[in-house]
Amino acid sequence: EKGTYPHFMLKEIDEQPLVMRKIIQAYQDENGRLQINEEITNAMLKADRIYIVACGTSYHAGLVGKQLIEKLAEIPVEVHLASEFGYNMPLLSKRPLFIFISQSGETADSRAVLVKVKEMGYRALTITNVPGSTLSREADDTLLLHAGPEIAVASTKAYTAQIAVLAILASVAGAAKRVPTDLDLVKELGIAASAMDTLCDAKEAFEQIAAEYLPATINCFFIGRSIDYFVGLEGALKLKEISYIQAEGFAGGELKHGTIALIEKGTPVIALATQTNVNGSIRANVKEVETRGAHTCIISMKGLDTAGDRYVLPHVHELLTPLISVIPLQLIAYYAALHRGCDVDKPRNLAKSVTVE
Ligand code: F6R
Repeated sequence: EKGTYPHFMLKEIDEQPLVMRKIIQAYQDENGRLQINEEITNAMLKADRIYIVACGTSYHAGLVGKQLIEKLAEIPVEVHLASEFGYNMPLLSKRPLFIFISQSGETADSRAVLVKVKEMGYRALTITNVPGSTLSREADDTLLLHAGPEIAVASTKAYTAQIAVLAILASVAGAAKRVPTDLDLVKELGIAASAMDTLCDAKEAFEQIAAEYLPATINCFFIGRSIDYFVGLEGALKLKEISYIQAEGFAGGELKHGTIALIEKGTPVIALATQTNVNGSIRANVKEVETRGAHTCIISMKGLDTAGDRYVLPHVHELLTPLISVIPLQLIAYYAALHRGCDVDKPRNLAKSVTVE
C-alpha cells in the first residue's frame, strides 16, 4: 500500500535507509559479524573468475559489484548483459562462478543464461528480492535483498539493496581469503543508511534541480568517472524510463571522443564527483562542457573540495558512494516525470517484470 505517498516510487525511495538496516541485520551473526552461507563463500573462493549476468538496473548494480568484489575479495569479475551473453557467450575461465542479479527473479533474458550455464555444469548464485522466484529456484544458491515488495516499475530500493548485498558478499569472501582492508562494513553501511536519511529529508533540493535543469529540455547527460560513471548510467536510465527525456550516462574521459559534439547552449549535464582519485579530472570535464554552453550541476561529496557545487552529499566510504549518490538521481527523475505529467509508477511501454526474451 502507498499509505500517504502519492506514488510507490517515492515511497520506495524513502524506504532505502530502512532496507539498508534490514540487510545489515539479516546478514549479521550473533556476534554482529557479517556472514554468508558457507557454501556460497566457498564457491566464491574456488572461482577463478566471476561472471555477473543481469539486465537494466540490476546490470548497473552488477557494475558496482565488480568493483566491490575485485577490491574487497580480489577475484576478477566480468559483468554481462543477459540478453547479449545468451547469444554471444564470452570465452569462460576454467572455474567460473555465475552470479545472477534480478530484483524480480523472473527476467527471461537472465533465466535463459542461467538455464544454459547450468546445462554446462557450472555453479550459479542468484541475488534476488523474491524468495521462491524462478531464478532463485533454478540456481544453486540464493542471497535475498530484504527490500520488501518493489511495486513501481522504476527500480530504486532494489538497486541499493543489490549493492549492499554485493558489498557483504565481497567483504565476507575477502575476509575468508584474508585480503587486507580498512573497511568496517557494518559500520560503513550504517553510516550510509544515515546519509540516505539525510538525502530523503532533502527532497526539495532535488525537486529544485529538476525544475531548474529539466523542464523544457529534450536531453540530459550524466557524467562521472570510475564508480560515479556507473551511477550515472543508472541515473540516465531512471530519467529516460519515467520522464521520457533522452538521457545518457558517459564516462567523463570519453566526452572528447565524440559525445561532446552534442553539447549545446543550455544542455543539462549532471556530474557526479565523489571519488578522490578522479576529482580533478571530472571537474576538468565539467569545465570542458561548460565552455560549450552546458548547464552543469555538480553533485559531490563532503571531504572533497566542493566549493560551488550544486549539492554536497554526506561523506560515506568511497567504495559505497553509489548507495547515496543514486538517491539524488532517483529523486531528480521522479520530479522531472511529475512535472511533465508522466505516470511515474507505470511508465509507457514497460512492465515490472520482463518475462519475454
Ligand atoms: C529499471 C528497471 C529494469 C530492471 C530490469 C531487470 O528501473 O526496473 O531495468 O532492472 O528489467 O529486472 P530484474 O532485476 O527484475 O531482473
